[in-house]
Amino acid sequence: ETKQWRADPLTAGLENDPQIKAAAQCLIEGEVIAFPTETVYGLGGNAKSRDPIRKIYEAKGRPSDNPLIVHIATPEQVREICTEINPIAKKLMDTFWPGPLTLVLPSRGEVSDAVTAGLSTVAVRMPSHPVARALIRTANLPIAAPSANRSGHPSPTKAEHVLHDLDGRIAGIIDGGETGVGVESTVVDCTTTPVTILRPGGISREQLIDAIGPVADDPAMTRPDQTPKAPGMKYKHYAPEAVMYLVPGGGERIQGLVAHEKNNGRRVGVLTTEENENGYPLADVVLTCGRRGELESVAHSLFAVLRDFDSKKVDVIYSETFPEKGIGKAIMNRLSKAAAGRLID
Ligand code: TXA
Ligand code: MG
Repeated sequence: ETKQWRADPLTAGLENDPQIKAAAQCLIEGEVIAFPTETVYGLGGNAKSRDPIRKIYEAKGRPSDNPLIVHIATPEQVREICTEINPIAKKLMDTFWPGPLTLVLPSRGEVSDAVTAGLSTVAVRMPSHPVARALIRTANLPIAAPSANRSGHPSPTKAEHVLHDLDGRIAGIIDGGETGVGVESTVVDCTTTPVTILRPGGISREQLIDAIGPVADDPAMTRPDQTPKAPGMKYKHYAPEAVMYLVPGGGERIQGLVAHEKNNGRRVGVLTTEENENGYPLADVVLTCGRRGELESVAHSLFAVLRDFDSKKVDVIYSETFPEKGIGKAIMNRLSKAAAGRLID
């Protein structure tokens, strides 16, 4: 049975909240629980102990070669986990923490091997969500936490998504309402010069460049023949049950494709934004994900909309595409994984 707690992120003094204390006690006792962060819900366990980490992989059905991000609440905790924090990493921490940025740093071997999947590096992030912060401080432990979805599903942005995937498989969940950013953190490898973006996310490439100058991209992000340096990036992910296609240009082109599929007797969905909501009268299901003019709003609702398509029982989904600037880069990365790379050019 999965326990449910509730915590309002806007409440002051969350550290003394009995719900948070009960959840933290679960972590101390080696259980795994889901909690909200500013990006997506995480499934947390004590990073120093092997047993909770095993439970995390098991509950998610996650391949064991895919390492976890360690969540911390204080700078002291980073120093306990990593051997070396170079000046660029320090600058990134000072600029973007707490927030949706994960840094890959040399590991001190303080966290369980199961967390790092045997790598010599460890991924660390300091979340800004008040519930996540209060939980980590109260447990007083580094918390390993992947996104709280079944492996391959879209990451959860609401407690109900977590329960849909993991009810009965985890000890508990703190419901702190909808998450804010909606896509996961940006993962940056700080062991290379310049640093390398391994996964686009809540902090954009442009923001990183403003703070530290040049950054590299993992070549695997654009070249399917390369092996990604973040092991998780090689897996199929975010996929809805229907076959999905990305259609640059959207609009008329999508209408033509919809008409064609309808003639073949298929149930067709379109993923669009509020601006174009009325542009697809032929489609069976039209779901909007924020406003194109405000890419943050698209990121915020993207995963919930991908999950919604499953309940609508469509056979095929055509999706509009987005400019790859700012958080648009993370949006297009997740969409293209959801579509398994299918792009109608
Ligand atoms: O926003 C987030 O990052 C969320 C919330 C819960 O914090 N967490 C999350 O975790 O997205 P997960 O496990 O779904 O994704 C972690 C990514 C994976 O692609 C993994 O392969 C990569 O980070 N990663 C973890 N440790 C790594 C390491 N030492 N070197 C390279 N990549 C690493
Ligand atoms: Mg994930």
